[in-house]
Amino acid sequence: MNLRIKRDGAGLPLIQTERLVLRTLSSLDAEALFKYRSKAEVLRFQHFHPTSIEDARDFIARASRSFTTESTWHQFGIFLQNGLIGDIGVHFFAGKNRNCEIGYTVDPSYQRRGYAREAVWGIVGLLFHELKKECVFAVVDVQNTPSIGLLRSIGFAELSSAPKAAEALQAGGMPECAREEVCFELTFDAWRSRSTEL
Ligand SMILES: CC(C)(COP(=O)(O)OP(=O)(O)OC[C@H]1O[C@@H](n2cnc3c(N)ncnc32)[C@H](O)[C@@H]1OP(=O)(O)O)[C@@H](O)C(=O)NCCC(=O)NCCS
Repeated sequence: MNLRIKRDGAGLPLIQTERLVLRTLSSLDAEALFKYRSKAEVLRFQHFHPTSIEDARDFIARASRSFTTESTWHQFGIFLQNGLIGDIGVHFFAGKNRNCEIGYTVDPSYQRRGYAREAVWGIVGLLFHELKKECVFAVVDVQNTPSIGLLRSIGFAELSSAPKAAEALQAGGMPECAREEVCFELTFDAWRSRSTEL
């Protein structure tokens, strides 16, 4: 998959995939984000539900303030020909900050066209290639079949054993995972071995 990573005027990453542009969300994106983030299909599995455009604007302001800062989320928009069709966030952990967690949403009107796979692949490219992270995690509700299918299609593996989880924690942080959730990981080596396939 073709990937170009540049920096914008503020030094933030600008990622170009075959069909998409991924860039940090701005307050101008609040209305579009509110529209798809309030759809029922999205609410089912997303923790954050904007209750108004103003709420969406606050969310964007919080999640675009800093990049790579420990214990913060940074939210990128997924853009198709200048229109916002989704978002993808990166959680930079506290401590050694060598691992990250991602979370994503695609507007239901644009789903099942491979856009999430393209966006996630773009973000993991940034995290491994440019930011030299060692492992990328995603935490998913066990009933979220689309998200689990997406992660597997990219090469993420279920982190099922406690020793592996302890190892990941030791290596540089990992997300919290509740009983009804499952944690997936993509290691640098797994990413590198898939990078010619996708
Ligand atoms: C999960 C989500 C981002 C997938 O977005 P998408 O753009 O439709 O995904 P893609 O088209 O890139 O699909 C990639 C792969 O994911 C899997 N997949 C996606 N949607 C699926 C579905 N409805 N059922 C089963 N598998 C699905 C498939 O393996 C698919 O590959 P394929 O189309 O070649 O079979 C989208 O469903 C979404 O935004 N859901 C609501 C928010 C959410 O749950 N976010 C994740 C929280 S952890």
